[in-house]
Amino acid sequence: MCGITGYIGKNKKAIDVVINGLESLEYRGYDSAGIAYVLDNKVNIVKEQGKIINLKSKLDFSIQSNLAIGHTRWATHGEPNQINSHPHSQGKFTIVHNGIIENYLELKQELLENGYKFKSSTDTEVACAYMDFLYNKNKNILLTLNEVSKIFRGSYAFGIICSDDLNNLYALRKTSPLIIANGNGENYIASDVPAILRYTNKYMLLDDMEIAKISNDKVEVYNKDLKVIKKDILEFEGSFESSMKGGYEHFMLKEIHEEPTVFKNTINAYFDGDFKNIPDLSKYNNIHIVACGSAYHTGLIGKYLIEKYANIPVYVEVASEYRYKHNFYDKNTLVILVSQSGETADTLASLRMVKEEGIDTLSIVNVVGSSIARESKYVIYTKAGCEIAVATTKAYLAQITIFALLTMYLTNNKSEEILNEINNIPSILEENVNIDYNYIANEIYQNQNIFFIGRGIDYAICMEGSLKLKEISYINSVAYQAGELKHGTISLIEKNTPVIAICTDESLLEKTISNIKEVKARGAKVIFITTSDIVGDFYDFKISVSKVNELLQPITTIVPLQLIAYNVAKLNGCDIDKPRNLAKSVTVE
Ligand code: AGP
Repeated sequence: MCGITGYIGKNKKAIDVVINGLESLEYRGYDSAGIAYVLDNKVNIVKEQGKIINLKSKLDFSIQSNLAIGHTRWATHGEPNQINSHPHSQGKFTIVHNGIIENYLELKQELLENGYKFKSSTDTEVACAYMDFLYNKNKNILLTLNEVSKIFRGSYAFGIICSDDLNNLYALRKTSPLIIANGNGENYIASDVPAILRYTNKYMLLDDMEIAKISNDKVEVYNKDLKVIKKDILEFEGSFESSMKGGYEHFMLKEIHEEPTVFKNTINAYFDGDFKNIPDLSKYNNIHIVACGSAYHTGLIGKYLIEKYANIPVYVEVASEYRYKHNFYDKNTLVILVSQSGETADTLASLRMVKEEGIDTLSIVNVVGSSIARESKYVIYTKAGCEIAVATTKAYLAQITIFALLTMYLTNNKSEEILNEINNIPSILEENVNIDYNYIANEIYQNQNIFFIGRGIDYAICMEGSLKLKEISYINSVAYQAGELKHGTISLIEKNTPVIAICTDESLLEKTISNIKEVKARGAKVIFITTSDIVGDFYDFKISVSKVNELLQPITTIVPLQLIAYNVAKLNGCDIDKPRNLAKSVTVE
């Protein structure tokens, strides 16, 4: 949800650094982009609708500026046009913002009554004017930022330039992520680590309500009482190269190809040592898994495995629903939050809600040091590395690997059989990620409706396959429990409607085949994905996936679905890594 970057320093051209940073954050939003840079003691703003490439064509890269802030936008308030693009400027303040100021209409009214005028329909321009409004009274930037942090409701990470102090870049954060990285005679701010990786892998995290005052040589961080505090320096494990495309046409394809390594890394991190820092999970009477999107789908797999093998009831909830409904938890409940980014607003809010009730929380998170990871009682990091494509693939795979490991841990299953299976998975994945599914994509990419059907754990996989397809190829697709179709939805099946039927739980093979025959009889084009060697005339295409232990089966079954979605999107000429209307990290509610 919007990416922000900023640079202050003597060594580099601020415009270059900020644009490079924005390019690696474009996955966070790409409706418009803009930059504010200081030249001859004046703040200049250039902004453009659409992707960063449009902004670049308007910029003079020979300009030697030592202070700049930039923004790539995922629109929340106001349409994604040039006027609503960031940076916004009012009086002495120029700012970029990631997040939402919920009380901006109230603040706007107060500002209008005090003579402020607005060009855009954004909450950010109001935030900017409010900073100016307070500063005109107190003439102190730190005091102003401290006051706004008490007045603004909602979420924000701000990069701020005040024309009265062009020797410093300011930053302020609540809920939306913000990091500060140190160089020699230069410093950076960014929404996420990839933006700074080409310069340094050392950074600090700004916490809620903290203010940073950043010059060429110094970073001062103030807490909410305006006391200077010391921050830990973190080190990012990946490299700049690893966050780049590495020869693949798209990040999504590169990330699918990283899955064998991601699986190995996740297993290596936890299989031998178990989960050292987490408690004995069998002491909980029930588990709630709360997440959004694909992370929610991994929870459905977790539910299936934990209930079946560890015999603990598991309730899986979409975070945006969970936080507003009546939930049944007590001291014997463990709430597991799953999130790649660790910043998803509804998941974070659910975490905070249950924490207030004194419930134990465990998060399964990919981004180290993210809000969900830091605020949970226990955390398990997935070892997926930096995921850039908006459509998650390798992080999803790492999350389902963690659920398989948690089930083994809960059932104390470290049998030789499972160990052998685990050892075989990387080579199975390696083979799978290299299979060409274009022939399947060619059969279905022109259809307007595609169905995924399966039973039990296969239905959970169908949900992810269907989301992946619609998210990047813009084809409407629905996942259905195979046995439920005949209760209404089957009326949508007509000649050549693609139905992707999954059956890896062979105890349900016959039942699933009956359901496949029902759609086949109505003209469906069936793509049958299975571990079984059964053949017949009830399908048009069969994709065989290797049979592995049930705990690990979803890990190999998901790969063809990810690749089919990728190939379909490619045939439709879609922007695979940055699908329309989406953003990687959803920090709005
Ligand atoms: C998946 O491809 C999506 N981009 C989306 O559903 C995502 O999984 C969801 O927004 C949750 O994100 P998180 O894992 O960062 O919390």
